Amino acid sequence: MSGKLFCVGCGPGDSELLTLKAANIIRTADTIFCPTSRVGRDSMALSIVKPILNERNDSYEIINVIFPMVKDKTTLQKTWSDNTDQIAKKCKDGNNVVYITVGDPSLYSTFTYIHRELKERYPSIEIEIIPGIASMFAFASQAKISLAEGDDMLAIIPACYDLNRIKSIASSCDTLIFLKDGRYFNNVIEMLKQSGFSDDSLIAIAQDVSAEGEVVKISKLNDVKTSEPAEKYFSIMVVKRD
Ligand SMILES: C[S@@+](CC[C@H](N)C(=O)[O-])C[C@H]1O[C@@H](n2cnc3c(N)ncnc32)[C@H](O)[C@@H]1O
Repeated sequence: MSGKLFCVGCGPGDSELLTLKAANIIRTADTIFCPTSRVGRDSMALSIVKPILNERNDSYEIINVIFPMVKDKTTLQKTWSDNTDQIAKKCKDGNNVVYITVGDPSLYSTFTYIHRELKERYPSIEIEIIPGIASMFAFASQAKISLAEGDDMLAIIPACYDLNRIKSIASSCDTLIFLKDGRYFNNVIEMLKQSGFSDDSLIAIAQDVSAEGEVVKISKLNDVKTSEPAEKYFSIMVVKRD
């Protein structure tokens, strides 16, 4: 009989922000799949669940699955397909399998691709998804800001894609949350300055929220020096219209 696959949202970085349910599932997993962007790079999600694994006295296996950060569709499709086959095999062999992911599984998670492939090609595998605290909510707590109030419109935007699309969304929203790769934030800041966001708009930028080396900076849009980029992949930027 096929084992079950759990996808566990592990929260933003601090192991204490794992849910009790997530911790219990990780305690009983036979196989833990950890997404990472290249061979030799530690999985952020694995570092979050490490304290739970360190308490275990039984055996389990950890398998890294590589998701290269490329936009080429053929490469991506092959990656999703191969990784799904690997996960499905472990489930079919009767293991209790867990796929761990940073933050919440429904937000820009590699699990989305695995889930789609499993539903299409391995429909008999049972899947349960455990929500986690999304990085933007951990960030809002650390920065002590509200993301939306009253009739505010809120947009969640990946910073590393089409700047023109961002521009049109920015013009109709009150709060913009930018995820995915701080190296693109400078271009976005310049665009916001030119597209009607007032100089007094709040801008909050963070790196490694709730993890080691956390940085949170809050200022006004006009005061942000674009010569100081947020260089890290694990960066978030929130801009609130004044
Ligand atoms: C692939 S998305 C995953 C988002 C995740 N599922 C969530 O719920 O937050 C990765 C992006 O999330 C953001 N991110 C995730 N964890 C973060 C953290 N601890 N600190 C800052 N940004 C984080 C960054 O923008 C990063 O580029």
